[in-house]
Amino acid sequence: MPSPIKVIVVGAGSRGETYSDYSFAHPERLQVVGIADPRPFARKKLQERHSVPEENVFDDWHCVAEREKFADAVFICTPDRLHKDPAVVLARKGYHILLEKPMAVTLEDCTEIAETCIQSGVVLMVCHVLQYDPFIRKIKVLIDSGAIGDVIHIQHFEPVGFYHFAHSFVRGNWRNEAESSFALLAKSCHDLDLIQHWAGGRRCIKISSFGSLSHFRKEKKPSGAASRCLDCSVETDCAYSAKKIYLDRVKKGWVRWPVSVVCSSSIPDIESVTEALKTGPYGRCVYECDNDVCSNQVVNMEFEGGLTASFTMVAFTEEICQRKTSIHGSKGELTYDGQEINVFDFLTQKSTKHKVDMNVPGSFSKGGHGVADYHLVDTFITALLSGNPLLIQSGPKETLASHRLVFEAERSRLENRVVMCETYND
Ligand SMILES: NC(=O)c1ccc[n+]([C@@H]2O[C@H](COP(=O)([O-])OP(=O)(O)OC[C@H]3O[C@@H](n4cnc5c(N)ncnc54)[C@H](O)[C@@H]3O)[C@@H](O)[C@H]2O)c1
Repeated sequence: MPSPIKVIVVGAGSRGETYSDYSFAHPERLQVVGIADPRPFARKKLQERHSVPEENVFDDWHCVAEREKFADAVFICTPDRLHKDPAVVLARKGYHILLEKPMAVTLEDCTEIAETCIQSGVVLMVCHVLQYDPFIRKIKVLIDSGAIGDVIHIQHFEPVGFYHFAHSFVRGNWRNEAESSFALLAKSCHDLDLIQHWAGGRRCIKISSFGSLSHFRKEKKPSGAASRCLDCSVETDCAYSAKKIYLDRVKKGWVRWPVSVVCSSSIPDIESVTEALKTGPYGRCVYECDNDVCSNQVVNMEFEGGLTASFTMVAFTEEICQRKTSIHGSKGELTYDGQEINVFDFLTQKSTKHKVDMNVPGSFSKGGHGVADYHLVDTFITALLSGNPLLIQSGPKETLASHRLVFEAERSRLENRVVMCETYND
């Protein structure tokens, strides 16, 4: 595989831009040579950042498919319902695929993607970024080293964050299942994937789930509230006010997420954010949106050998996405709070704290997600350059298996019953 790896970015939004930034840290390993996105602002921004020639800039992924193959790989960072078609078509053309999660929004489509990539002999890596977080990797190393003995129970908590949930899952792109996907798939496919990873190859036998959309419903609208926060007389008493989430931030000079999402076709400033809140989806009252995805959901699992696992996702938290995990083994207990890993040994009754190296180059150093994003792209590029797809921990087989858990958990919630997981021969 030649170096640098040449990549076409399909979907030049938030994720596409982030992954492309790897080329600034390592121009000798990655070069962005093509872009497809219907939004002129997003296209142009990425084109200028990476000096992509005009003939390689398209307003739709189909145009990439119609051209002779002109890169080694594609980053598919389109909206959830637009993953399957580009993944299947571009894999058949011989492109290696970095595919955003969720793989797709139905199990049939996820299966088709995995099978097509395997049959086409291309590398598929799904962006389960947490798998590439140094802390998460360390947890697996500790489990595999026997530090806590046999794993008996996994407890994993995902705090979405009160304003993050309002932004993405009430007003934003992932609010409505028919337009994107159900919350467990959109938000927590990472987490069931981690639980499966820590379960270490044991098959999940039974799964159950409960969950609902709480609070962000029409009947919870305070009396006197308006349809838009900018017109609302009771906005000062509302934690979810768009004025607080976006306008107050931009007034303090904050132009990154979530403000950048509100102004998706211009540079965010006070005027453009105000205009977006007057007319766009992010200025709507959270009690009057067309949202229907769960705000709180629990999943219980039983794996082979009696290992149990319990997962909770909840919107109503101060912390944003900073997972908390405890893994209980026959010899000790491992806990992780986002800052450090603690292993308590039952025999010695001593605790050992583990830190990891969170330093990465360039813009990726900002925050835990950024560090994991860096390692994700780095792993993909290394796998291609070395010809060793085994470096990838979120390839077709394991990702398909953890997506199946997500679909089975949601089936349990909808059908109000424990689901016995099917056995697959792959
Ligand atoms: N791995 C993670 O942790 C993580 C985090 C956030 C989002 N995501 C996933 O990443 C994907 C993208 O999310 P985002 O936040 O970047 O969204 P985004 O809206 O910022 O970007 C999506 C882009 O795809 C473009 N697009 C739409 N139709 C297209 C087409 N036909 N051809 C080419 N491009 C097209 C849009 O114009 C947009 O610019 C989603 O599936 C989302 O669920 C993953």
